[in-house]
Amino acid sequence: MSGKTAIMMEDIEKVYQMGVTKVHALNGISLDIQNGEMVAVMGASGSGKSTLLNIMGCLERPTGGIYYLDGENVSQLNKDQLAAIRSNRIGFVFQGFNLLGNVSVLDNIQLPMIYAGVTKKDMVNRAKEALDWVKLSKYINHYPGQISGGQQQRVAIARALVNNPTLILADEPTGALDSKTSIEIVSVIQRLNLEKGITVVMVTHEKDIAHYCRRLINIKDGKIVDDTLLLNQRNAAEDLANLEKERDVEA
Ligand SMILES: Nc1ncnc2c1ncn2[C@@H]1O[C@H](COP(=O)(O)OP(=O)(O)O)[C@@H](O)[C@H]1O
Ligand SMILES: [Mg+2]
Repeated sequence: MSGKTAIMMEDIEKVYQMGVTKVHALNGISLDIQNGEMVAVMGASGSGKSTLLNIMGCLERPTGGIYYLDGENVSQLNKDQLAAIRSNRIGFVFQGFNLLGNVSVLDNIQLPMIYAGVTKKDMVNRAKEALDWVKLSKYINHYPGQISGGQQQRVAIARALVNNPTLILADEPTGALDSKTSIEIVSVIQRLNLEKGITVVMVTHEKDIAHYCRRLINIKDGKIVDDTLLLNQRNAAEDLANLEKERDVEA
């Protein structure tokens, strides 16, 4: 089933019914995203970015149009079917990290595996591996409140990784972070894309952050107004190394 095209949308619409009024969040979105792409989505607040990402991630169903994920029409699947797809194929990263505050880093990372039929031993091993991959092994027994925002977001990325997704969806993943920490997080997301070959779609407010992607889609009032390849994709690890150098010179 899994071909080259990760995401194919045809004339996707989303209308929210708010009492007697209708909110048209998406007004006919058509796009293709190939496996291995790294795509930024920009647009003003309220333009439909999160709605688009939530439909891509099977958190919500469109009210019109067709959505093919890995070649399969998922537009009309029921809640359980969508939950199964999310759990097997998609990892989410959010602006607010969305970690559980009252359980350890290790337990947070294991959460997506609880419903995936993984043995406890494998759960722990896979969580440790993911934590190692985001370079936070020494915080394994910490609680989210005991680590920085950037570290919490890396834990959230580890959690998004444990079920070996083919698609990572990030909704303003750097929105709550300072600029250097933002680049740090983007470097982890770039590694997901470059080292693991995971398809990434990332919503961001910041043009600087979008330039770490290979393609930029702009949306306005629920429609795509621009879709361009970014020829000079920035490398976050390099930018980070340069920032460190500058800091050393200043010190
Ligand atoms: N669950 C919802 N119920 C009603 N309206 C919603 C809901 N989610 C989003 N909207 C509306 O849809 C439009 C697009 O929202 P959203 O996708 O969150 O935009 P963005 O992420 O670009 O800020 C906005 O007008 C918003 O108020
Ligand atoms: Mg949003």
